[in-house]
Amino acid sequence: MTALTPLTFSATDIDALATATGRVAVIVAPDGKMGQAARRANRLTKGAIARFVASEGVEKIKMGQVTTLAWPVGMTAEALDILCLPRNPSVAEARKAGATLAKLRGGKTMLFAADGLRRVAEVSFGLVMRDYTFSDHKSDAETHDTAITVMCANPDDASTDAAPLMAVAEGAFMTRDLTNEPANVLTTTEFADRLAEMSALGLEVEVLEEADLEKLGMRTLLCVGQGSDSPSKVVVMQWNGGKKGEAPLALVGKGVVFDTGGISLKPGAGMEDMTMDMGGAGVVAGTMRALALRKAKANVVGLVGLVENMPSGNAVRPGDVITSMKGDTVEVINTDAEGRLVLCDVMWYAQERFSPVGMVDLATLTGAIIIGLGHENAGVFSNNDDFCKSFLKAAEAEGEGAWRMPLGKAYDALLKSRIADMKNIGGRAAGSVTAAQFLQRFVKDETPWIHLDIAGVASVKSATSLAPAGATGWGVMALNRLVADAYETE
Ligand code: BES
Ligand code: MN
Ligand code: ZN
Repeated sequence: MTALTPLTFSATDIDALATATGRVAVIVAPDGKMGQAARRANRLTKGAIARFVASEGVEKIKMGQVTTLAWPVGMTAEALDILCLPRNPSVAEARKAGATLAKLRGGKTMLFAADGLRRVAEVSFGLVMRDYTFSDHKSDAETHDTAITVMCANPDDASTDAAPLMAVAEGAFMTRDLTNEPANVLTTTEFADRLAEMSALGLEVEVLEEADLEKLGMRTLLCVGQGSDSPSKVVVMQWNGGKKGEAPLALVGKGVVFDTGGISLKPGAGMEDMTMDMGGAGVVAGTMRALALRKAKANVVGLVGLVENMPSGNAVRPGDVITSMKGDTVEVINTDAEGRLVLCDVMWYAQERFSPVGMVDLATLTGAIIIGLGHENAGVFSNNDDFCKSFLKAAEAEGEGAWRMPLGKAYDALLKSRIADMKNIGGRAAGSVTAAQFLQRFVKDETPWIHLDIAGVASVKSATSLAPAGATGWGVMALNRLVADAYETE
């Protein structure tokens, strides 16, 4: 797994600035005020920072902006980064500033003199989150294992504050690694193996094999994987950090390790992007990792359906009728609408076995959600306003875009089948909504439920504020906060 950048907090020692190698970063407030470290760096460089502030004019220095002085005179470092940040930045400003430093770092060691800055831990979180590269398959990978030292007024407080954030970063890194991984590497078996390894963190991990799934009657899930040589699996990860016997929150993820479309084959152009079609399962895995690492005081169970959607002589056909674990029959009109077939069985199983207090499913479910919301927001569907609001609040606090979409009887009617209980597609109109309606048929009335369609946000072509291009890890931060705010309130 991609390791977090090693980051340590130490007490401010301004004498270290002169001899530090790599990069040195100091802070200048938007009003031009310097702390003791910036003043020392200014003295070492014979007034370079003061001249910079004077030349830019105080009002021109933008919040979060970094100006680099290369090969500064009077210092050993090869670059002096001047970060413009107020003493008391917001969480978003702090994280963004950290991310800006990470972008500049380019694998060099860094000494960041934070002086008396508040939210040092949040700056560090932004730094670490943005310092991710997926380089497992590069022969000449740039190293990002060089250390970052953050000098601050209260290093002990900063590391205490940073610990749960670094747990979240580790979770997000796992999600990103899984989502970036190609399908020949991340087979269903490899995916399950990586999840099983998390038992070392105190998670209880079970892998259900095809024979088990057959016994449970998960025919809609199994029909998706039956054209592939890779065996279908369901992995159950339990984190019991809350009160004994208290019903858990359930997280359910779509884990299609590759989606060719099956017999309803996708067009060739861009098909390689479908290595990320297990993104929902990746978020569930990463969230469980974060919760375990920070020893969350809540009961949460993560379930993922791992399958590969391939065309073959054994593959499910358009027109086939399949019986779900719930007992409802589904006419498969389009084998490319496979995510819902996987999720409906896992969601039903989650409710039958765990009677969860709430259930959140995540899936790269529809191309239509990208048409509707682009890459800025995940689609949020829910049968429960309070549950939905608490999720939207958590997502907003973490800066992860999420936008509520409608559900309704008229949409559900579009799933009517002539020969079975339902079809697996509703037609072109409102494709994301009819997909959600399909899922809702497998949600019990008493289960508060949220469906997150993350097709547009799980993996993107250009960098976002806290991630480089590729897998984002969208959702780990929001779900972690949802658990913290709504289920750890004792
Ligand atoms: N995995 C795709 C959805 C998707 C599209 C994810 C683009 C990420 C980026 C899903 O299984 C799919 O193929 N959906 C179809 C549904 C249609 C057949 C009703 C789609 O969106 O076209
Ligand atoms: Mn598909
Ligand atoms: Zn898919």
